[in-house]
Amino acid sequence: MDLVAQCAVASLLVSHAVRADAEFVAVLLGPPRPPRIVRFVGAEVRGLNPDERSTASLLRKALAEEGLAERSVHAGVYGRGGGLRDALATIQPPIFLMDEGGEDLRGSRLGSDVTFVLSDHKDFTAEERALLAAVTTAKLSVGPRALQADQVIAVVHNELDRRA
Ligand SMILES: C[S@@+](CC[C@H](N)C(=O)[O-])C[C@H]1O[C@@H](n2cnc3c(N)ncnc32)[C@H](O)[C@@H]1O
Repeated sequence: MDLVAQCAVASLLVSHAVRADAEFVAVLLGPPRPPRIVRFVGAEVRGLNPDERSTASLLRKALAEEGLAERSVHAGVYGRGGGLRDALATIQPPIFLMDEGGEDLRGSRLGSDVTFVLSDHKDFTAEERALLAAVTTAKLSVGPRALQADQVIAVVHNELDRRA
């Protein structure tokens, strides 16, 4: 839960502000009712703070829901039932898989509305990789070292900020 909270914060917060043009989507496979999809919408979210505890409490609210349809659990935070396949089905291309063995992000052509997919501390399973291979445009790398997912998100945002 800490890792997911760190990734939400890295995706949406800058110093004293929220990235209104960003969304963070997490596919959560742990109890109590997996799989569930949690979506944070930068343009709508209220009360998102840099500390992991308050973000984790928003995540827990979304996880406490039982329904399959997406429902708001807090301003700008939504929960629904579904796994990786369902999450990917709602996302328009281009979708990039972040992977230390991929092409260098620095030289990449991205477009203006773009999605980046990362795993948590465990690598994607073979089944998840097959799903991703069907919908992703390319694998992108932020460098040769394996970083933590929230660190990768910070580097990707930095690259996008420099290009904007
Ligand atoms: C903590 S890493 C996964 C574990 C890692 N493969 C390992 O066993 O050392 C979490 C995710 O961040 C992304 N990632 C980590 N380092 C990266 C890099 N240098 N470039 C692009 N993505 C990276 C990948 O999506 C990776 O699956």
